[in-house]
Amino acid sequence: MEEKLSLLKEEVEKEMKNVQTTADVENIRVEYLGKKGKVIEILKKLKSVEASKRKEVGQQANKLREEIEVLVEQKKQELKEKEYEARIKNAKKIDITIPVEDKIGSLHPITIVQKELEDIFTGMGFTVEDGNEVETEYNNFEAVNVPKYHPARDMQDTFWLENGELLKTQTSAAQNKIMLKYGAPLKAIFPGRCFRNEALDASHENTFFQMEGMMIDKNVSISNLIYFMKTLLSEVFKKEVEVRLRPGYFPFVEPGFELDIKCPYCDGKGCKVCKNGSWIELCPCGMIHPNVLRMGGIDPEEYSGFAFGLGLSRLAMMKYNIDDLRALNSCDLRILKQMKIK
Ligand code: DAH
Repeated sequence: MEEKLSLLKEEVEKEMKNVQTTADVENIRVEYLGKKGKVIEILKKLKSVEASKRKEVGQQANKLREEIEVLVEQKKQELKEKEYEARIKNAKKIDITIPVEDKIGSLHPITIVQKELEDIFTGMGFTVEDGNEVETEYNNFEAVNVPKYHPARDMQDTFWLENGELLKTQTSAAQNKIMLKYGAPLKAIFPGRCFRNEALDASHENTFFQMEGMMIDKNVSISNLIYFMKTLLSEVFKKEVEVRLRPGYFPFVEPGFELDIKCPYCDGKGCKVCKNGSWIELCPCGMIHPNVLRMGGIDPEEYSGFAFGLGLSRLAMMKYNIDDLRALNSCDLRILKQMKIK
């Protein structure tokens, strides 16, 4: 038996020398240490060994088992490394320095403008909130002071769902929920996709983007509104812009305004962007109507606030010199490519 064990050892060492793959090593392991392996068989037969020699044979067999286990592990490791090196050597070479310029996409112009505005507003202490695209009639209209049969609804026909809900026509639809959620004081913007049942042309789309903003606190006045809008627009256009307010009517603000900016492209001298009008109408806004505050759970005797509804699609058009609103939703790569956005 002892002799057999030392022969087995020599046999294993010889076989191990010739192996080429980790699979060969595994076969050898099974041949000697598997359930019916040669070393294991010896261990199983220990009972039949003379009692005086049993212990010694047992120890020797176990030692051989351990030696084979070590050999197997070493060989496997060695071969794994070799196999890995060979794989790398034969692998298809990829030139990671080839430029891919024309093949990558970019963010959509509206997304870029939205992110830029979010950065500016969060820098001024505003939070960024989300609104739904499907809204209740209450949130979209009643809660912003546009009761049923109010003539202002005429301008905001939309797509109605069978359950009586609608695709929101304005980001103002989230005002009520946000006031109820946070109470006063409050500084928030909420960008979103809006829908209207429009006859389409270069400046009317059934789907467009707005960004609403609200600031509510004690003693908020029109001066705060002008200050925030001027700071914001100066950052967007990367230069000091002049703004002016004209009276405008929106049921959810009192007083309400149209905020215009002096055309940042020609400084008011007259150009294609401002259609030679020197001023560009950019952002309807106003002081939040007491009814709207009340419905939002805020006491208008204690708090006041301003709200505005920036046209994100409009701003993106100005920034990227796009003269047809429909281009933004067209998914037409030829158009998007021309915007040369990096
Ligand atoms: N929701 C209005 C619209 O889509 C825009 C607007 C006007 C929003 C005045 C406001 C505001 O917050 O104060 O026509």
